[in-house]
Amino acid sequence: MNESDPRYTIAPGAEEARDETGRDEAAREPMPIVYLNEIERHYQQGESMLHILAGANLALWPGQSVALVAPSGAGKSTLLHIAGLLEHPDDGEVYLDGVATSGLSDAERTQIRRIEIGFVYQSHRLLPEFTALENVMLPQMIRGLARKEAARRAGELLAYLGLRDRVMHRPSELSGGEQQRVALARAVANAPRVLLADEPTGNLDPQTAEHVFSALTQLVRATRVAMLIATHNLELAGRMDRRVTIRDRQIVELE
Ligand SMILES: Nc1ncnc2c1ncn2[C@@H]1O[C@H](COP(=O)(O)OP(=O)(O)OP(=O)(O)O)[C@@H](O)[C@H]1O
Ligand SMILES: [Mg+2]
Repeated sequence: MNESDPRYTIAPGAEEARDETGRDEAAREPMPIVYLNEIERHYQQGESMLHILAGANLALWPGQSVALVAPSGAGKSTLLHIAGLLEHPDDGEVYLDGVATSGLSDAERTQIRRIEIGFVYQSHRLLPEFTALENVMLPQMIRGLARKEAARRAGELLAYLGLRDRVMHRPSELSGGEQQRVALARAVANAPRVLLADEPTGNLDPQTAEHVFSALTQLVRATRVAMLIATHNLELAGRMDRRVTIRDRQIVELE
């Protein structure tokens, strides 16, 4: 794949946006896009407290892929939700471009999520009444893109992920792995600066997983997105730039 490949135009206009925001400038500076600082997360379980994260720190840098590998129940989804501003930590701060997000209003957080963050849920969460194509079009249209252009790009993206013949299917008419790929297409449709994906290759056969993984790797290189992927696939994790795990409620670098 080369730079002129139309697949890089996942979100045409993103290049200009990058220039305006000085993203490439920022990439050369010692500033992570996302910085989780001393994150604490616990759940009340009856009388006792279930501590999931305590003093967890993690920096995500532009153009870098990070694998989050940890056993079931360790807190991967919890961590991704906090990094994606979907959940508030009980303590600690999530910085985006060095700006603390805890003081932002819900509307501001929603706006940041729409523009800056692509999120692939573990459970896909596609909108059931819409087709695959429409699911990928919607975030683009919410962001102001014309319907026709959103449809064109959604179709391109889905075709690239091997779903050319499935664009008119509703989620209930798609396999788990197909839904997963639609969710991924939706997450990257607006060319986010941060991509958080919760086991995006979990339901895929090895060959499709490989294809999706290489698409993600190329996306990181082409758009300098900062990527954090929860995965149980150690082989794919081994090919990412960094590997982290959750140990004793903290985030620890592997190797
Ligand atoms: N709302 C909640 N109330 C109580 N406990 C919760 C809640 N949400 C998550 N937990 C607990 O927090 C722990 C971490 O959950 P999380 O979903 O982050 O794990 P995970 O690492 O993503 O696991 P998996 O690999 O199975 O997806 C689990 O033990 C879970 O039972
Ligand atoms: Mg999970």
